[in-house]
Amino acid sequence: EKKIIIAIDGHSSTGKSTVAKQLAKALGYIYVDTGAMYRAVTLYAMRKCFINDSHFNQEAIERYLPFINIKFKLNKKTGIAEVLLNNENVENEIRKLSVSNNVSQIAAISLVRQKLVQQQKLMGAERGIVMDGRDIGTVVFPDAELKIFMTATAKDRAERRYKEITERGEQVSYEDVLKNVVNRDHIDSTRKDSPLRKADDAITIDNSNMTLDEQFQKILELAKQAA
Ligand code: C5P
Repeated sequence: EKKIIIAIDGHSSTGKSTVAKQLAKALGYIYVDTGAMYRAVTLYAMRKCFINDSHFNQEAIERYLPFINIKFKLNKKTGIAEVLLNNENVENEIRKLSVSNNVSQIAAISLVRQKLVQQQKLMGAERGIVMDGRDIGTVVFPDAELKIFMTATAKDRAERRYKEITERGEQVSYEDVLKNVVNRDHIDSTRKDSPLRKADDAITIDNSNMTLDEQFQKILELAKQAA
């Protein structure tokens, strides 16, 4: 069997990364969470105060881009690749709602996208990769053998994300999580550079009423057909 590229795009909090991780494990592929890369750049900008309330100093972010180094490191205990920002493990910090509330604006900056997309292309050069994000099937790997577009109702997605955040111990309200999910989708789909959209040859999976195992089995079968 030949190694392929599996691109998983879709709306916020559709559980892309959960199923992508499972698939990569089953196939012996590398898994790359591209959202984590945009989140790490956002965290850097927040720490440097390039973001204040909702004011973004785009010029400063662009100027500091060469000093932002994003890498992944495999956690051998969990088998999960964790994101490093200038060699600091920021895997937990980037998942906070404060980062989620700023990330879409950072991800709309073309120079930020150029830098991260270039890095993502290199990671998939040997194929054998499952990558999730918003523009993987349209921009990063338009030649991916399998493209999935995941969606679900905003209510279902916010409920899942709320559970995940509160289980981690962060205090948030359901309304704030729902607002974030809807707001991010809006910014991601309407930005000029690489907006979130389904690639023409992507297969849509609405997982509102699907279990994790059903999603996994379905995509695994599609992957086998594509290989
Ligand atoms: O996947 P996740 O929800 O962690 O992504 C966080 C944000 O990063 C998205 O809402 C989007 O603004 C941005 N993103 C992107 N392109 C990608 C992956 C993520 O613009 N390929």
